[in-house]
Amino acid sequence: MNILVLGSGGREHALTWALAKSSRVDELFVAPGNGGTASIAQNVSGVNINSAESVKAFCQEHDVTLVVIGPEAPLVAGVADDLRAAGIRVFGPDAYGAQLEGSKTFSKEFMVANNIPTARYGSFDNEGDALAYVNELGAPIVVKADGLAAGKGVIVAEELEDAIEAVKDCFSGAFGEAGAKVVIEECLVGPECSLLAFVTNGQAFCMTTAQDHKRAYDGDRGPNTGGMGVYSPVPILNEGELPEMQRIMQLAAEATAKDPFPVDYRGVLYGGFMLTAEGPKVLEFNARFGDPETQVILPRLDTDFVDIVEAVAEGRAEDIKLAWRDEWAVCVVLASAGYPGSYEKGKVILGIDEAEAIEGVTVFHAGTALNYDGELVTSGGRVLNVVALGKTFEEARDKAYDAVDLINFEGKQFRQDIGKRALIGRSAWE
Ligand code: AMP
Ligand code: GLY
Repeated sequence: MNILVLGSGGREHALTWALAKSSRVDELFVAPGNGGTASIAQNVSGVNINSAESVKAFCQEHDVTLVVIGPEAPLVAGVADDLRAAGIRVFGPDAYGAQLEGSKTFSKEFMVANNIPTARYGSFDNEGDALAYVNELGAPIVVKADGLAAGKGVIVAEELEDAIEAVKDCFSGAFGEAGAKVVIEECLVGPECSLLAFVTNGQAFCMTTAQDHKRAYDGDRGPNTGGMGVYSPVPILNEGELPEMQRIMQLAAEATAKDPFPVDYRGVLYGGFMLTAEGPKVLEFNARFGDPETQVILPRLDTDFVDIVEAVAEGRAEDIKLAWRDEWAVCVVLASAGYPGSYEKGKVILGIDEAEAIEGVTVFHAGTALNYDGELVTSGGRVLNVVALGKTFEEARDKAYDAVDLINFEGKQFRQDIGKRALIGRSAWE
């Protein structure tokens, strides 16, 4: 069959890589793709991935019968709805289901209605009421723009003044339309853990746990980013935490198939959890694979990915069988100098082949492109995701950093401490 992947990041390179391993794929297209997907699939330019019409036209022209949607924007825009209506199979929820990510208010109401443990919150469409709630809860406190803000719309405020400023920023348009409503939450403490599940027909098939590192600098300091590194599985879970997270994911999946949630959710539901003293609580749901979580989860998957994607897209829950390799995966993100602020592009990248010569190492591209001379160059804030598999956590981590040392581009920036706290143990979060 011919498959089209939508998106251009490290997640999409990993998705494409996993699909390409299947013997069931004839032609594999990625729109728009990146420097990494270009070597294992056909990159497609000129398709507007947020327009169902544009995607549909490409599918019809190239006999594509299955579309895998990577990022959230096309999901929220309803691309899945329209493609399905045109008879094309889609991996990804429809616009209503994608509201679990697209609106934090919607998502919190869904959690409360279904008894899903989460932080206490209020949702506001005006500054006065929002500020009153901030004063009532007190600091530390979390302020979130309601809509999609590319991971930048969440402010964890240690001081009341910072929260007040964040609320004012939101209502004065710092996040555009996404900030027209603001969710204010109690601040939870603990380690974070992601658990993603394939969801179809109201059933969840949980993947393996992963832990992202969102802050830019070592020691979890500095601004939030799209993710600077990740590992899987998460070795610091207390007894009972994984079953509880799985229970919550199942509960959420069942709720997507029931009134008043009228959708047939077919895709990934991403649960972002805080492991609090009172048990795991949901920080957020996303309606898609995580980035960079996917880059450590898919290399550990031991089932044909095309079979799973197709079963999810067709609602054949009974055919979903997941198996995981008994290995650890660690991913270190190489970013451009200045990220998550402004950065330069076009720096020549060297050493990927040498890095991938290390057994168990795969380099997924996030922001790369080929220049006019055919050289691989940087084209984004996050540039490469260096992933290593190992029999132990230490082995995977050592290999990932050995590989990182072999790759060079001007301004290469990365965290030295990916996985460090997990190696110390749960006490590292206390
Ligand atoms: P979100 O996009 O909702 O996951 O928020 C991004 C990040 O902000 C999370 O990964 C957490 O690190 C942090 N965060 C979000 N909500 C809370 C909360 N209620 N308490 C503490 N930290 C939070
Ligand atoms: N790694 C966080 C996310 O994909 O939202």
